[in-house]
This record gives sequence, C-alpha cells and structure tokens, in this order.
Amino acid sequence: MLKAFDFVIFGGAGDLALRKLLPGLYRAYCNGELPSGVRILGVCRREKQVTEYQDNIRAAAQEHLSADEFDAEKWQAFSQCVHPIYLNIEERDKWWDALAELLNAGNEQRVFYLATPPGVFGICCKHLSETGLITETSRVVVEKPLGYDLQSAEEINSQIAEYFEERNIFRIDHYLGKETVQNLLALRFTNSIFENLWDAKSIDHVQISISETVGLEGRASFYDDAGALRDMVQNHLLQLLCLVAMESPNKLTADSIRAEKLKVLESLRPLEGDAVKWHTVRGQYVAGEVDGKQVPGYLEELGNDKSTTETFVAIRAHIDNWRWADVPFYLRTGKRMKRRAAEIVIQYKDVSHNVYPDAAGTLEPNRLVIRLQPEESIQIIVTSKNLEKHETELVPVALNLNFADTYKHFVSDAYKRLMLDAAADDPSLFIHRNEVAAAWRWIDPIIEAWQKPEHRPLPYAAGSWGPDAAHELLIGDKRSWFIIDELLERGKSDGN
Ligand code: BG6
Repeated sequence: MLKAFDFVIFGGAGDLALRKLLPGLYRAYCNGELPSGVRILGVCRREKQVTEYQDNIRAAAQEHLSADEFDAEKWQAFSQCVHPIYLNIEERDKWWDALAELLNAGNEQRVFYLATPPGVFGICCKHLSETGLITETSRVVVEKPLGYDLQSAEEINSQIAEYFEERNIFRIDHYLGKETVQNLLALRFTNSIFENLWDAKSIDHVQISISETVGLEGRASFYDDAGALRDMVQNHLLQLLCLVAMESPNKLTADSIRAEKLKVLESLRPLEGDAVKWHTVRGQYVAGEVDGKQVPGYLEELGNDKSTTETFVAIRAHIDNWRWADVPFYLRTGKRMKRRAAEIVIQYKDVSHNVYPDAAGTLEPNRLVIRLQPEESIQIIVTSKNLEKHETELVPVALNLNFADTYKHFVSDAYKRLMLDAAADDPSLFIHRNEVAAAWRWIDPIIEAWQKPEHRPLPYAAGSWGPDAAHELLIGDKRSWFIIDELLERGKSDGN
C-alpha cells in the first residue's frame, strides 16, 4: 500500500510538468492510486506563475488529457492537493526555509522531481541538503539529458551523489514506463515458447525503430546541441535494446535487472574510427510533406543554415556474447519521418527447407512485433494458407494482442507509472549510474568519428523513412526495414 507522500516538482510551471507530470498525477488520482494526504508542490521561479498556477495547470490538463479523461469536478478535487510555491532554486534564501517548514510539517515520504535543466541539479541538491530536507525517506528523480558525453554525465551524477545515495537517485527514462516495454519482460521470462527461441540460433536479427513525425517542437536550442544520437539513442533505444538482449535476472529486483542490463551495454561491440562509417547513418531532414502538410526543413525551422546536427540515426550494432553472436541489432530513429511509430521487431531465421513450390508465394520469416506506439500491441507474424483459395497460397498473417482491445480501460501513461514507482521507492524501472556511463562509453566514439566532414548528415525529405543510406545499410545485409502494414497489405492483396 502506497503511503502518502509529498511530491515536489522543481520546474513546476515548466513544459514537462504541465504536459506530462500533472496530467499523469491527475490520472493516478482518478484511478484511486493516490493515497489521501498526498501533496504536490509545484516550484515556480516567478511570483506571477504562483498566482496563475491553478488556471495554467488546468488549461494545460485540458489540452493534454483527452476529452473523456478531463472531468471538471475531478480536476477541481485533484487540484486541492496541488500547491504552487515560489522559489529560485539557485538562491539559498528564506524561500528555501519556507519550503523546509512546509515539508517538515508534511509527509515522511518525499520525492523531489527535478524537471529542470541539468545545470541546476547540483545546486538544487545542495540546497535541499543545507535545508535538511534530504532524509532516509527522500528520493530525487532526474530527467534527461544526463550529460552530453561520458565526462559531463559523470559530473552531473557526481554532483547528485554528493547529497543523495545511489539507491535514492531515480534516473528516469520514460520509455521504461511504457506498459508494453514492461510486458516485454513478462513475455520473455514467463513464456517458454519465447525463452527457447531467444538467441542467435533462432533469431536472424532485431530492429528497434522509433520514428516521429514532429520536428523541433520549440526545443531548437536544446535539440541542436544534442541531436538524435544523444536525444534518443543513448537512452531510449539502448534501454530497449537492453531489455530485448538481457539474460533473465535471477530475481525481479532493481539490482538484478540493472545488473543484467549493464552486462548488455558492456557487451556492445565498440564502434570507432572507420567502423562508424560502415555501421552508422546520419541524416537531417529537408522540406517535405508530413501527414499531408508541407513542412520546412530542419535548417529553416532552426533558422541556422550551418547546423550539422543529425535528426536521424540508423546503426547496425552487435552484442558480443554467446547469446547474440552475429545477430545484428538495427537501431533507427528520426524526426519528421513518414509515420509516428515505435517498434521492436524480432525477426526469426528462415525455415531451413521450403517444401512448397514457388507458385505458393515467397515465404516470409516469422516475426515478433512489439509495438509501443501509436498503440501498444504485440503481434506474431506467421505464414498461413490463404483459406479462401483452393490452390495453396501462402500469406503472412498476424496473431494480434492489441492492449486497447483487450484492456478496454487501458490508458498508457509512462510518466504516471514512473512517478508512482518513485513514490513507492521502487527503482526497478529507473537507470543506474553505471548504465548511464556504459551507454555514453559506447556513444562517445561515434560522436567523435562524426566530427569528420565525411560524416555530415545526409539529407532526407520530411515525411520519408530517412536517407537512402539507411535502407542500404540493411540491403547490404540482404534485409530491409520492416513495415508491418505493408507486409500485411501484401498478404491481403495476394489473397484477393
Ligand atoms: C524525448 C526526446 O526523450 O522523447 C524527444 O527528448 C522525443 O525528442 C520524445 O520527441 C519521444 O517520446 P515519445 O514517448 O513521444 O515517443
């Protein structure tokens, strides 16, 4: 049973709080998941934000929750436990004492959510410590970006570690809060049909792809400094790769899960020097059409025609261990792509001998498709006979587990899940400092190699699937990026 807690959001009037955190906490409230006595304190750095807080968070909730979810009465009740407070994180003044007074008179369980730029993580933790607010039952949640490279990540982590013990530092990667991502663990470790088919003997390759249709979304300066590799691959894609590739933890504890993930990160074959040329593709979008609308190119959106920041990455990665020897993991992510989708595709090897004549059609390999977005589903692609035809025609069909159909009330909210886990002191779905470091250790040499002019990003039209080189990366291996709808469409049209 979750105990009542105080949840302090530094950056309480910021974009993350308004778009994700407060709507997530509201959902928890509506589901009866918030114990009575919970207090949510939104830290504002301007007094005006304090006076306008309730109006602003309500307007944002209306915008970011669906019409079905937002209920004026429930919001009114929920907002009784949300309190704006004025504080300048960097100034150790009387407002910190006011915060201390408020918290000391409140709940024992405390969560400090740092929804701020990492530049102030250190000073915020220092002030929390100086005001005596860090207790045995206090936890700090930190958002990405955790650094720009290994060195800066270590600096940030060391600053936090001066005040909080590792077990109380919750580094968030919201992809780990997506229910289908956790279901991947359940699928792998509770079903013997998969357990026995989860290695280089059975699997041909794995694709992990997160495509977005959005562009810069008002984050130009952050994004242009980061680029797709730092923004998406270093964290989300590598975490997904870990969950696909890790060994079974001996227990479902945070320590065991993290230890297995770390082993995967440490087994990634380094990509350095020339290898970067063969195994990575960088792209940057130019003007094109997304969802029927003409959109500008990255440089125009940014207002700087010199930027060489990548908005697309594709990588062929290898994990050098017994289980995964010679199984490529293709990673891909990009902005302004054709469709919004996040998918993990496990492609099995071809059957060893095809007994059917060519006229029966080409055999498609089996695939397990774990879709995280736009809807959460798991599909197994198998080959079946077209039952409507007398002669044998083989077509790919999908065995479907669509969570929206199966769980009618299921609303996916990764942030809600992770905030409640932090409140319950369960760090299983949060990232250990060593994982952050191992991920940067693999990413840094790629970034270094990309500094050479030959690695300038290749243009791709907004609304496409990325530069041609990303397709060639797989074609060279006699494979291709998997698009489920196209495959199933083929099955249908073949059958008609
Ligand atoms: C964030 C990135 O971590 O994840 C964004 O900084 C990206 O650039 C976002 O758009 C994608 O998250 P989701 O859950 O919408 O796929």
